[in-house]
Amino acid sequence: MYFLLQEDKWKGLIKVGKFIITGCTPLHGEINVSGAKNAALPIIAASLMADGPSRLLDIPKLRDVENLCEIIRRMGCRVEQDGNELLIDPTTLDTPEADHDLARKLRGSYYILGVLLAKKRWARTSLPGGCNIGNRPIDLHLKGFKALGAEINLDHGIVEVKARNLSGNRIYLDYPSVGATINIMLAATLAEGTTIIENAAREPEIVDLANYLTVMGAQIKGVGTDIIKIEGVETLKGAEHRIIPDRIEAGTFMMAAALTKGEVFVRNVLAEHVKPLIAKLNEMGVELKEDITGVLVKGGGPLRAVDIKTLPYPGFPTDLQSQMMVLLTQADGTSLVIETVWENRFTHVDELARMGADIKIDGHSALIKPSRLTGAEVTATDLRAGAALILAGIVAYGETTIRDIYHIERGYENIAQKLSSIGAKIKKVN
Ligand code: UD1
Repeated sequence: MYFLLQEDKWKGLIKVGKFIITGCTPLHGEINVSGAKNAALPIIAASLMADGPSRLLDIPKLRDVENLCEIIRRMGCRVEQDGNELLIDPTTLDTPEADHDLARKLRGSYYILGVLLAKKRWARTSLPGGCNIGNRPIDLHLKGFKALGAEINLDHGIVEVKARNLSGNRIYLDYPSVGATINIMLAATLAEGTTIIENAAREPEIVDLANYLTVMGAQIKGVGTDIIKIEGVETLKGAEHRIIPDRIEAGTFMMAAALTKGEVFVRNVLAEHVKPLIAKLNEMGVELKEDITGVLVKGGGPLRAVDIKTLPYPGFPTDLQSQMMVLLTQADGTSLVIETVWENRFTHVDELARMGADIKIDGHSALIKPSRLTGAEVTATDLRAGAALILAGIVAYGETTIRDIYHIERGYENIAQKLSSIGAKIKKVN
C-alpha cells in the first residue's frame, strides 16, 4: 500500500543520534545490499520528464532520497512510497523550481536542472549541497547546458537555466564528471537533434539511468563508454524500473568482512561493478568467490599492504577510499593511497588518528602503516568518512562512539541493523 511522503518528515532527525560500537567481533553470515543511491537520485529526477507515472523499485530509504522526493512533491508532483517502491506522477508538476533549502542538502538536487530544462525549458534551484569533500563546482554541467542552447544566470547561489529551443550539440567534458554527464544526457534527451558527449563518465549508475530513459522512449547509445550519443525525442512515457545494487555499500560490507577476518556473503552485488575492489582485495590476500547473486568474502589470513589510486570508473572508486584506508591499517607493511578525484577527502584521517591509526598525509597522498586501533569518540565528517569510522569501530579494541551520523544515514540504508545481523555490536542511540 502506498502512502504520501510526509512533509518535513526528516526535520528534527538531523544531527541527532550516534553509533556506539564494541569492536573485535568477526562478522559471519549474509548481508543484503540496497539499491544504489547515486542511481536512484537521477532516476527519480528523470521520472519528471515523462508524460505519465513511473514505478521505481529497490529505491533505498535514505535521507538524500527523502529530500529529493520532497523537492519534487513541492513542485506539485505526486510521490507515493511503499517500502522500497516509489510511484511518481509528474503530470501535476506546476512549479519548475526546486525548494532552495532542500536543494542545498544534497548534491543530487542538481539533476532537477537538466530534467526541467528539458521538460519545461526553464528551471531554478540553489547551488547543490552534499558532502564536504572539496570544491564541488558545476561548471561542466552549465557548459553542457549552454552548448545545447540554454541561457544560464547565477545569482547569490541561485542557478537559473532557460532556453527557447534546445538543440543537440557535440560536447567535450574536460573531466569525466558523473554529474555533468548525467545532467547533459537528461537535457539532451528532449532536445532537438543529436548530442554527442565526449570524455563522458562511464559509471554503472549512468548506464542504469540510460536503461530507464530508454524504456521511457529515449534514444541513447554508447553509455558505459566515453562517447555517448543521444538522439532527441519529443516525449517520454512513464516506465517501471529496478535500481541497480549499490556498489559502494557492497564494497563497504566486503571490506568489513575482510577486516574482521570473518566470512560474509554479500548478496545483491554485481561483481562486475566492484572489480577494482575485488582486484585489490585479491592482491591483499583476501579470499573471494563471485556468483551471479553476490560475492563471498573470506578473511582470516594475513593482509598484505597495497597501493591505491582513486580514479573515475572503472578505476578504484573515490567513494571507497576512506573505508579502504581502514583496512590498510590492518595490513602488514606500508600502503600508499592517492586521491585524485576530490581535493578534501582525507578528513577521516584525523578521526582515525584518535583511534590509533598511523597515517601521514602529504597533499593528495596518504601513507598508512600498520596499527592497532582502539575505541574512541569520533565524528563523521562526511558520508564515506563516516562509513570508514564504522569499519574502524568494528575492528577496534573497546568502545567507539561516532557522532554526526546523519552524514552516514544520507547514504547507507539501515546500516546498524544490517551489520548487527552479521554479528557486529553496533547500536544507534538517539
Ligand atoms: C558523484 C557521486 C559521488 C562520487 C563522485 C565521483 C552522486 C550524487 N555523487 O559526484 O559520490 O564521489 O561522483 O565518483 O552521484 N567537477 C568539476 N566541474 C563540474 C563537475 C565536477 O570540476 O562541473 C570535478 C569535481 O570538482 C571533482 C570531479 O570533477 O573533482 C568529480 O566530480 P563528479 O564526477 O562530477 O562527481 P559528482 O557527480 O558530484
